[in-house]
Amino acid sequence: MLDKIEAFRKEILSSALNTPAQLEAFRLKFLSRNGLISTLFDEFKALPGVDKATLGKPLNELKVLAETMFKQCKEQFESSVSGSQSIRDDLTLPVHASLLGSLHPLTVVEKEIREIFFRMGFSISSGPEIEDDFHNFTALNFPADHPARDMQDTFFVRKGESGLEDLVLRTHTSPVQIRLMENQKPPIRSVMPGRVFRNESVTYKSYFQFNQIEGLVVDHGISMAELIQTLVTFAKMMYGSEIEYRIRSSFFPFTEPSIEMDVRTSSTTNWMEILGAGMVDPNVFEAVGIDSEHYSGYAFGMGIDRIAMLKYGFTDIRTLYENDIRMLEQFPL
Ligand code: DAH
Repeated sequence: MLDKIEAFRKEILSSALNTPAQLEAFRLKFLSRNGLISTLFDEFKALPGVDKATLGKPLNELKVLAETMFKQCKEQFESSVSGSQSIRDDLTLPVHASLLGSLHPLTVVEKEIREIFFRMGFSISSGPEIEDDFHNFTALNFPADHPARDMQDTFFVRKGESGLEDLVLRTHTSPVQIRLMENQKPPIRSVMPGRVFRNESVTYKSYFQFNQIEGLVVDHGISMAELIQTLVTFAKMMYGSEIEYRIRSSFFPFTEPSIEMDVRTSSTTNWMEILGAGMVDPNVFEAVGIDSEHYSGYAFGMGIDRIAMLKYGFTDIRTLYENDIRMLEQFPL
């Protein structure tokens, strides 16, 4: 038996333990319940008393040797895979502080307006930012000498020469109404958000670009009463059901009659104008080939920037376009 112990000792010492698989094979061979060392112990128990005294010690040493080698190698393997493994498993580690983007205040307000109209059954449409004179002015019933066509207000992309039409940066979202009516037969019920441009000097309250949202409804028997009801519903959803409102008569070339709407909340003492609107002028229907004897419609338009400024307390419109990270960071998602 001593010979056997010595042979196993040599085998244990020369075992290759370079991989976890080799280590496991070593464990099964020597240390498992049916392994070689356990079997030796069984044999040892069956021996007569005299032999036990001389064999007990080397046998125990053999067992300790195998166990120590196993333990050391196991620890080594575990610490060498540790790096990634233990980091991956530690769920209490802080997350990387990566910078998340957020929505611009103008986007937030535009989304809110769109969602209110969406709930009232309006679709969303859009049109180009570079427009021709027909869609931006003529089809909207602007007379040829209307001051809005003036160089003062309009950015011209191409000044019409030799029979070419003027191309402009659209000065309002109303041309999208025209494009919608050209491309879609009534019934129409849509809102059209977008960026518009005016050749104005830059101050705290005016900028060369801003955002509007246009609305258009065309169908049989559309009335002024429905227009006003829609606008009042919108204003209450946007500014709160407690607001006061008033409707004033106004003028726009593309609507007849035309109105403007003001609202007043408990926190604002002054009336603030929030939109222009009216019944679609028959001349506009004629320009897009809709029969005004059979159809009627209403339109409205409002500025998004003003609403965002009121809502968030901006006092300078330029803040909305400078993209100063310190401002943007105040609007986390
Ligand atoms: N286009 C007008 C503007 O830029 C706003 C507007 C007023 C749009 C009345 C409309 C409307 O559709 O009916 O000032």
